[in-house]
Amino acid sequence: MAGEQPVAPTAVTPLGVGVIGAGWMGQVHARSAARLRHHYPDLPVAPSVVAVADTLADHVAAFRAQHGPVRSYPDWRDLVADPAVGLVCVTAPNAFHAEMGTAVAQAGKHLWIEKPVGLRAADAAAIRDAVNAAGVHATVGFNYRNLPMVERARELIRQGAIGTPTHAYVRTLADYAAHPAGTLSWRYTISQGGHGILADLGSHGFDMIRTLLGDIDSLVADTATFISRRPHATAGASHFAMADLSDPTLRYGSVENEDYVSCLLRMTQGARVMYEAGRTSVGDQCNYGFTVHGSTGYVAWDFRRSDELALCSGDDYQGQATQVILGAPGDGEYARFQPGAGIAMSYDDTKVIELARLLAAVTGGPMLGATLDDAMRAAEANEAVLASVATGGWVQPGLTRD
Ligand SMILES: NC(=O)c1ccc[n+]([C@@H]2O[C@H](COP(=O)([O-])OP(=O)(O)OC[C@H]3O[C@@H](n4cnc5c(N)ncnc54)[C@H](O)[C@@H]3O)[C@@H](O)[C@H]2O)c1
Repeated sequence: MAGEQPVAPTAVTPLGVGVIGAGWMGQVHARSAARLRHHYPDLPVAPSVVAVADTLADHVAAFRAQHGPVRSYPDWRDLVADPAVGLVCVTAPNAFHAEMGTAVAQAGKHLWIEKPVGLRAADAAAIRDAVNAAGVHATVGFNYRNLPMVERARELIRQGAIGTPTHAYVRTLADYAAHPAGTLSWRYTISQGGHGILADLGSHGFDMIRTLLGDIDSLVADTATFISRRPHATAGASHFAMADLSDPTLRYGSVENEDYVSCLLRMTQGARVMYEAGRTSVGDQCNYGFTVHGSTGYVAWDFRRSDELALCSGDDYQGQATQVILGAPGDGEYARFQPGAGIAMSYDDTKVIELARLLAAVTGGPMLGATLDDAMRAAEANEAVLASVATGGWVQPGLTRD
């Protein structure tokens, strides 16, 4: 029996990937590079991880055990200088983003950098300027916007399926810091993490709000820190590390940034938004989502059921039914991953899409992913939250930037 005709291979250029920071996100970026061609065989580029940099030898060893015997560097600057590296993943703590991101661009390498991109909006702006000056390409880890049902929701809103957007509730509630034994990692310090929940999930939340509803005109906000002291962490302890609270030698330090934020936003196009983010929300594991109401309907989504979208659309105004739509080929990048409707996408899939969008731009296509401008806008919203808390009034994002 005759087999299938072989497909003519596309000319594929190898691209060496270097990962700075072999923690959770470093692992996810490396897995995405490994999977890229499984899902995007038509891109004329083949990324592969060739180097890792981390200050902790055990993190490097674990990374190499998973991703192969790649070159390793205790100093990230040596990775950036490695001629085999053409794309650098910056997945180190936030405080290093500005220096690392700028250096990557200045070395003429492409950049995949995690959110929030530094400690302040000025950091994201500096990296953007370095990227533009060097003529390289960059994207940012705002992965939730890549989920097919988020893209479908955005299209439905743009097409008028819910009429004119009037008001929305957006949330990014998590319990990852709810346990008092959770150790005082870099995330809880201003010098290493910058903002607290604002840096971790606020940046995602504001990016989601902008993705769905456009620019933010102004906001008024409140913040709170519910767990003000935490046991000190051992070096390199992960996001999820716990201390033994019965240990009498345990030392405690102060949490320097916010656990919770609530805010009201006025969007440039008129819609009103309530946004809430928390890291100590017991029972809320990754409760990220939105409900966007319009003059004739609403659309709602929850990350924990990421392939479902609730849509209420029509011309009945009152008593109108809501339908549940399941993800299907045709929604965003869904068809790259699954052949039929209702097969849930994963968190890691969103990062494969993120990388693919960067590589599409690297190979001459349009940039459809999150940019450093997007990171700057999210950081400006975070800064506006803190300015509003300080003044008690409405603040326009961007006007607070130094
Ligand atoms: N997009 C998302 O959904 C998402 C999720 C989690 C984290 N993040 C972001 O990713 C980044 C990393 O977070 P994480 O959860 O992976 O943290 P992590 O603590 O698990 O990993 C950070 C790694 O960086 C290493 N490191 C620290 N200083 C370094 C230095 N000077 N040079 C090289 N390596 C160094 C640490 O040893 C560690 O291995 C943060 O900016 C965070 O905001 C994004």
